[in-house]
Amino acid sequence: MNTFIDMILTRHSVREFTGEIIQKEDLETIVKAGMSAPSAVNIQPWAFIIITEKKILNSLCQNLPYAKMLDKAGAAIIVCGIPEKDDQIAQKFWVMDCSAATENILLAAHSLSYGAVWTAVYPDEDRIKTVREECNIPNNIIPLNVIPIGIPVNRNAQPIDKYKSENIHWNKW
Ligand SMILES: Cc1cc2nc3c(=O)[nH]c(=O)nc-3n(C[C@H](O)[C@H](O)[C@H](O)COP(=O)(O)O)c2cc1C
Repeated sequence: MNTFIDMILTRHSVREFTGEIIQKEDLETIVKAGMSAPSAVNIQPWAFIIITEKKILNSLCQNLPYAKMLDKAGAAIIVCGIPEKDDQIAQKFWVMDCSAATENILLAAHSLSYGAVWTAVYPDEDRIKTVREECNIPNNIIPLNVIPIGIPVNRNAQPIDKYKSENIHWNKW
């Protein structure tokens, strides 16, 4: 099979990491993949915070209820939206744009043999506040998610097969 399609079909959320660190160059490559995503009118209403400091990973782990895997992650990437990047378009489309960037990040991490998982921040106000405070994010920037990345404990985990023919409609519903 085409290796890129294979990457898409085998990507899955990884929530158990060995605790090993991740090379800076790999993190840069992964974020570069995020920035290659499509965005409405190519506004790119995003910014990426790469977290490598254990202290910050642990603090986020303590304060984010659904991101407990952060304590063993080698790093994390916070995908942030910038709704005011232009007059109109970014306000409307930043969530979709940043979601496209997130999927690219998840795929890039997987292709480099790391595990990763999207953990939700936006639209939960408490989580947005927690992440803003921990990472000095200004009020006009919105953290969409925190993506812990690490070496998977289980390298043989199989993805869920989500293919459902009933979800496909040819030509009309
Ligand atoms: C918008 C969104 C929010 C998510 N939030 C969390 C989360 O807070 N914590 C978590 O462990 N997984 C989270 N996930 C991951 C999903 O649980 C996961 O993608 C889903 O169960 C399908 O599994 P897969 O990624 O292995 O295909 C989130 C995924 C999305 C798209």
